[in-house]
Amino acid sequence: MSTIVPEPGEAATDQTAGPAVEVVAETAPTVVPGAAQAAPVAAGPALDATGRPAIDFPEPAPVTEHGPARVIALCNQKGGVGKTTSTINLGAALAETGRRVLLIDFDPQGALSVGLGVNPHELDLTIYNLLMQRDVAIDEVLLKTSVPGLDLLPGNIDLSAAEVQLVSEVAREQTLARVLAPVLGEYDVVLIDCQPSLGLLTVNALAASDGVIIPLECEYFALRGVALLMDTIYRVQERINPRLEVEGILATMYDSRTLHGREVLARVVDAFGDKVFHTVIARTVRFPETTVAGEPITTYASSSTGAAAYRQLAREVLAR
Ligand SMILES: Nc1ncnc2c1ncn2[C@@H]1O[C@H](COP(=O)(O)OP(=O)(O)OP(=O)(O)O)[C@@H](O)[C@H]1O
Ligand SMILES: [Mg+2]
Repeated sequence: MSTIVPEPGEAATDQTAGPAVEVVAETAPTVVPGAAQAAPVAAGPALDATGRPAIDFPEPAPVTEHGPARVIALCNQKGGVGKTTSTINLGAALAETGRRVLLIDFDPQGALSVGLGVNPHELDLTIYNLLMQRDVAIDEVLLKTSVPGLDLLPGNIDLSAAEVQLVSEVAREQTLARVLAPVLGEYDVVLIDCQPSLGLLTVNALAASDGVIIPLECEYFALRGVALLMDTIYRVQERINPRLEVEGILATMYDSRTLHGREVLARVVDAFGDKVFHTVIARTVRFPETTVAGEPITTYASSSTGAAAYRQLAREVLAR
């Protein structure tokens, strides 16, 4: 399995990385020092940051009925790659298209809840109670957010106990899938924000999902550990959940001004080809700001490039 992911250290010397890097450089000539001397770009389709012909994803058709939900886990055991940021903002962008969206905070840190303006440590009932107590119904835990059509199943530090307590449960890997089943008909998309680990909670998220979105930070070593994640996904697919597939790889925190950022992105496209979303999320301070504000970028800075990127991602996800 490890053969599908080249070692990141090879990036500078790998022959195949060369042309892709040049192509990426050509897409951002105004900000790349020295790019002005490059040969004129031959007429042809405009390329996007991933070095492939840019696609104008269509405005999704409005929906009149809701469900059954497509469940997508945002997963990467590496910390700080943009899982929570992407869950909130993709969710909010999907809700803007009229989809009913449920976000699940499946990380004991509760960052998803905080990012939506909820203090999860003050809550009596969270996803933990839903997982561990048969007498708690999902409607008792669900919260509405300030974004119409966007609901939240909050999580907090209690979840870290679930990781241990679930071990002795029957069908311990399918607990999340079981508790979600009653509401799947009411939503169009469910997004699960996983914690940075491949433990039992993450396996529960994968067992409950149709697809996985893997956010990758455009930094060296971004690919380190992805082989292990892929291996976990394949094992869950084989043994527990045959529906599961990799929905896409999402490049995050991309800085088009640095050769380094462009090289890593080219490397990711080399490794995963069409699985890489055309949408690339640039690095911008607006995202940390939204966490403090407790709302998605689509409402906090609606006309920002960050909001536009997640709206495009929503269209791309709906088109896949
Ligand atoms: N595109 C971006 N540009 C700049 N900062 C970003 C971007 N995306 C996320 N961040 C910031 O980077 C930090 C980590 O992001 P985030 O919490 O989404 O990652 P995560 O993968 O969920 O982390 P963890 O593994 O700890 O759960 C946060 O402070 C967030 O505001
Ligand atoms: Mg997170």
